[in-house]
Amino acid sequence: MLDIQLGPSDGCGTVADMALHLGDIAPDFIARSTAGEISFHAWAGDSWVVLFSHPADFTPVCTTELGRVAQLKDEWDRRGVKPIALSVDSTEDHEAWRPQIESFSSASVTYPIIADEDRAVASLYDMIHPGEGDTSSVRSVFVIDPAKKVRLSITYPKSVGRNFDEILRAVDALQTTDRSAVSTPVDWRAGERIIVPPTVPTDEARERFDDVEEFYPYLRTARIREEVGA
Ligand code: BEZ
Repeated sequence: MLDIQLGPSDGCGTVADMALHLGDIAPDFIARSTAGEISFHAWAGDSWVVLFSHPADFTPVCTTELGRVAQLKDEWDRRGVKPIALSVDSTEDHEAWRPQIESFSSASVTYPIIADEDRAVASLYDMIHPGEGDTSSVRSVFVIDPAKKVRLSITYPKSVGRNFDEILRAVDALQTTDRSAVSTPVDWRAGERIIVPPTVPTDEARERFDDVEEFYPYLRTARIREEVGA
């Protein structure tokens, strides 16, 4: 059994039926992985983390997904993100599968894969959805910030591979909105026009941002001003 530290309960429900919400502290845990025993918060350190689960080793969709995460190593690094995978298989299975992922993707799997054989972490993060066939984990993703807050979560069914370019795009948006106190519009990509928060008067927006455009009083876009020396 793993050592799991849970946040305080409000007394209204058991731990098992308390959903993990955006803004919550990501629960800490200690688990076996391909990188040895991991104490999650200590391992995360000051980095952003993308914790993602897959249903099973030696399966086709999962092989493509873990290979894609490996191929994107430079992109994770550039954003200060540590990816970490999880399934309910053993470390022995993860290690035996890894060369196949690497051969398929032509990339090295340098991130850890958690071996959650007793489903302790998967249960903690609500990654087991029995309606999806069995008690293996579905395709969950949690983006966790350096303060250990859950900032984004998505859940995909077992039959549908995720788009990790979208996860990178969302990390770019989270980091930009944190840095500049703005929002990002539909399909935004790094460097594109941002949304001025409705709480900022247009006069003030013109001082803070470049090229402010007002479509409606509540919908204004602008460019983030480049910092001198950035
Ligand atoms: C897959 O990775 O292909 C897969 C794994 C479990 C259930 C369905 C698909």
